[in-house]
Amino acid sequence: MTTYRSIEWRGDSIRLLDQRRLPHVTEYLDFTDYRALADAIQAMVVRGAPAIGAAAAYGLALTAAQSQAQDVAALSGELVGAAAVLRAARPTAVNLAWAVDRMLRCSVEPDIAGVDALREAMLDEANAIAAEDVRTNRQIGLNAMELVPQGATIIHHCNTGSLATVDYGTALGVIRTAHEQGKQVHAYLDETRPRLQGAALSAWELIQLGVPHTVIVDGASGHIMRTRGVDLCVVGCDRVAANGDTANKIGTYNLALVAHAHGVPFYVAAPTSTIDLATPTGDDIAIEERGPEEVTTIGGVQVTPAGADVANPAFDVTPAAYITAVITEMGIARPPYGESLRRMVELAEEERAV
Ligand code: MRU
Repeated sequence: MTTYRSIEWRGDSIRLLDQRRLPHVTEYLDFTDYRALADAIQAMVVRGAPAIGAAAAYGLALTAAQSQAQDVAALSGELVGAAAVLRAARPTAVNLAWAVDRMLRCSVEPDIAGVDALREAMLDEANAIAAEDVRTNRQIGLNAMELVPQGATIIHHCNTGSLATVDYGTALGVIRTAHEQGKQVHAYLDETRPRLQGAALSAWELIQLGVPHTVIVDGASGHIMRTRGVDLCVVGCDRVAANGDTANKIGTYNLALVAHAHGVPFYVAAPTSTIDLATPTGDDIAIEERGPEEVTTIGGVQVTPAGADVANPAFDVTPAAYITAVITEMGIARPPYGESLRRMVELAEEERAV
């Protein structure tokens, strides 16, 4: 386990490691109000699809714990209101809506007798979501091992490690598992403009884990594949549509195209909570557009001339045709994804039911 925690329940508050200040400053912020927590998710104090889902789940547990409601109906109403605010914080990562919906489903379980029982149920469910996330990530790492050869050179995009999850990570967890198994892997980390999650966060995590790595600018992946040889790419995701089209951090699509051109396998590491069978294709995924200042400045320094027009889509969609396989905690889904992804989700639901 890592020595830092992206999210921690403190009994009367939620503690987040402020990822905006890493790698230079390790600062934790405490949240005692779901509105402030929603703002922190939007501002990317906490980020990464599984991490924002777990943070929102604790936000609802916090709402329940603080409520002055005298009956279940009143408290349920407060939870529905808080859920709407938390869910709206970021639109693309389905884990946020998934965790919020799961908490709301739990809040209307018929055997909840009173407000204290509802408070307890909310905290139990948030803890369950957090614990499942860690187990899931470890299993994704193990399931991926048949795809990672000894001595593999791997390209990774964004940050998908302990910071982006409750712990361990998904795609970065695959690299970590391979390292822990003595596979002597080397990771190339896309810096991931505009917010530099790869350069700032993934490098920070891999240094602490002792995983050999090299940070590259996003545009270098083609050159690295052509001149140095790459065995595979592995990335995380924010939403996998029913047909396998996958939304992930902006630049993922470019990496997938380059991998395709070089015959390099392109893997998506995805907890089944990121598979959204209700979204038919990538065209149906809402892509978050963030403020221009993330593009016009680097480290607070303006890099564009005044008046430059700027677009800042935070995610892109990689069509399923460019994805070799989706690695989940229930196994490896391969094309045709319509069938294989559904099967993974069913297996996860069956497991949760026992
Ligand atoms: O905008 P971010 O930093 O929240 O985007 C994160 C990503 O795109 C990750 O690849 C994805 O959420 C998976 S994290 C395990």
